[in-house]
Amino acid sequence: MGLIAIIGGTGVCDIKMLKNAKEHHMDTFYGTIHYVRGTYEGKELIFLPRHGKTHSIPPHLINYRGNMLGLKRLGVTAVISTTAVGSLNRDFKPNEFVLPDQFLDFTKSRHTSFFDGGENGVVHVDMTEPYCPTLRRTLMAAADELGGYALHNGGTYVCTEGPRFETPAEIKMYETLGGDLVGMTNVPEVCLAREAEICYATVSMVTNFAAGISPSALTHSEVVDCMAENSLRLRTLIMKAVEL
Ligand code: HPA
Repeated sequence: MGLIAIIGGTGVCDIKMLKNAKEHHMDTFYGTIHYVRGTYEGKELIFLPRHGKTHSIPPHLINYRGNMLGLKRLGVTAVISTTAVGSLNRDFKPNEFVLPDQFLDFTKSRHTSFFDGGENGVVHVDMTEPYCPTLRRTLMAAADELGGYALHNGGTYVCTEGPRFETPAEIKMYETLGGDLVGMTNVPEVCLAREAEICYATVSMVTNFAAGISPSALTHSEVVDCMAENSLRLRTLIMKAVEL
């Protein structure tokens, strides 16, 4: 698979399983990025906490382009990311994992491309299969080998702008449009990975049923608590996939 990077989302600010882990930074055209380099079972690995080391960067202000350009410059060929999501699909329950295979983009104010014209030109990248099927198969095989994982292969990830959660009316609309999961970070990350020709998959951890489906109002601490409960299982799954 070449050099693999893990992008950690909410609840995965530290992968905790790397040997000789060292923090690095890199200046890119889009600003400075921070990452960790270490080894796992003798394999070189990059870890990049999407929200920063202390979860200080909200979804709409993440330097998605700097992060992906930096990973490309490091020679990364595959990215496995984690995402906390709400579920719109009664079959995808809290504490379960999903590998999305499609997305719907409802973001509003993000730089979504490396190709803004000028020197970089204009490029229209194919999005038929935004999430790498090979990486998804490897993650499914990892779950099989470990046993005891409720991991669903396929689902449509709705990306909202955030940082607020959704209204029940918005969730009803996303459901009507075919959305299964709702989160705030997969777009433009997955698009930039495609532009950079890096295989990309995300393991979505369902932390709650979405607004209006859940009987109670959603809080950030509910999401964080659920991620904390499942973080070890999520990290173990990804590390098994890295090993395969
Ligand atoms: N909505 C948006 N993002 C989320 C949710 C949600 O319900 N849960 C976890 N991340």
